[in-house]
Amino acid sequence: MPRSNRMMNLGAFVHETGQHVAAWRHPDAHAESGTVFSHAVDFASTAERGQFDLLFLADSAAVSVFGSAESKGRMGKVVKFEPITLLSALAAVTTNLGLVGTCSSTFNEPYTLARQFASMDQISGGRAGWNLVTSNNEAEAFNHGREQHYAHAERYDRAAEFAEIVLGLWDSWDDDAFIRDKMSGIYFDPSKMHTLHHKGKHFAVRGPLNVARSPQGRPVLVQAGASDTGRDLAARYAELVFTAQTTFEQAKEFYTNVRARLPRFGRSQHEVKILPGLYPVVAPTETEAREKFDYLQSLIHPSVGISVLEHTIGVANLSQYPLDGPVPEMGDTNGPLSRQRLLLEAARRDGLTLWELCLLNAGPRGHVLTIGTPAQVADVMEHWFLNGAADGFNVMPAWLPGSLTDFVDLVIPELQRRGLFRTEYEGHTLRQNLGLPVPVNRWAAAPMVAE
Ligand SMILES: Cc1cc2nc3c(=O)[nH]c(=O)nc-3n(C[C@H](O)[C@H](O)[C@H](O)COP(=O)(O)O)c2cc1C
Repeated sequence: MPRSNRMMNLGAFVHETGQHVAAWRHPDAHAESGTVFSHAVDFASTAERGQFDLLFLADSAAVSVFGSAESKGRMGKVVKFEPITLLSALAAVTTNLGLVGTCSSTFNEPYTLARQFASMDQISGGRAGWNLVTSNNEAEAFNHGREQHYAHAERYDRAAEFAEIVLGLWDSWDDDAFIRDKMSGIYFDPSKMHTLHHKGKHFAVRGPLNVARSPQGRPVLVQAGASDTGRDLAARYAELVFTAQTTFEQAKEFYTNVRARLPRFGRSQHEVKILPGLYPVVAPTETEAREKFDYLQSLIHPSVGISVLEHTIGVANLSQYPLDGPVPEMGDTNGPLSRQRLLLEAARRDGLTLWELCLLNAGPRGHVLTIGTPAQVADVMEHWFLNGAADGFNVMPAWLPGSLTDFVDLVIPELQRRGLFRTEYEGHTLRQNLGLPVPVNRWAAAPMVAE
């Protein structure tokens, strides 16, 4: 395999009890993780010990109870900490780890969100990232004064304006705006404060933001969404793209496609990193890894398997079909359209039964699955990384803390041995570690553009 000096970037994608739907049932799992701060400190410390670039929190502003009466009480991921609050607290107990929180552009106000992430960026010394999502969970609409979800196109229309405002607000102050000269009594230079004056279709935001720029300029903008509109949004604004891909070919298509869109938005290749999710099950031997995988799969109750699939692909009433029969035909969802297409494609390609699709979805949820020894897992990662399908991965531990510890103790040393991953952090800010440029403040850039 070809080698390179380029290093992978790695995110630790931690759900409260783990990525797998039955994670909380594992005998060694912290079943109450969504409510115990010390468990989150433990995960963050392990990720930092493994020199992960960042900790990544997904989110949805609603209780994820869905599906049949039988499955409801069996769902393990129903309560958790709000990400900005949790990550801000974790900033105080970590030093180098990036802190990326998901926050929806559909049910928030851009001024508030810009303020919260800018504050987290200051508190952490420049380690914050915002994962812009448009909300794939209809239940969020019911918590925000609506009786039905916004349509896909409308959510993206709002998201683009939202991102524009947030980025504008993060440029409210030049880096050297604050003089704080006690002798002269001058606190700041008003010519270095910039007011946005945004009036658009969805929002009116005057500005400026009442938070200064951070050591990394501004939080890293992350985006997750894979439809054509989602890819355009990524190419226009995202510095880190999180994506769900089940095969090398799909991942390469996505990677190439998103990168090809960058010039259209005046952006360079070095301004963007693309990290697919990776669901690794690793053990010293392949047999042990397979046993670990099968054990978690055996903890899935049928009603939960069905309900989670319905939720993931935005379709109801799948329980009317036989579990051992083929996956039924279905129309497009208004929810997670890209995820639906991805899973249905996998089902058709591999001739899966409905229950097999449930099992496939229960852990990886549309992300690539690797089961094996540290070398086997590293082989997959190396192949994707060196052959134009990924700049790194968002690693999704099946259950916590065990699967994260396994990855840090077994796979990270293997990647380091191959020269594919750092042996010490390059810097203290998230941008330094990701190798992303510090964005020039648009106001500072403006005169140069005019010349
Ligand atoms: C990899 C990935 C992760 C996502 N994570 C979240 C999330 O944590 N919270 C959320 O509300 N939506 C999440 N989304 C949903 C997207 O923001 C978007 O609403 C959905 O994917 C539909 O857009 P699409 O058809 O462009 O993919 C995620 C999407 C992808 C592809």
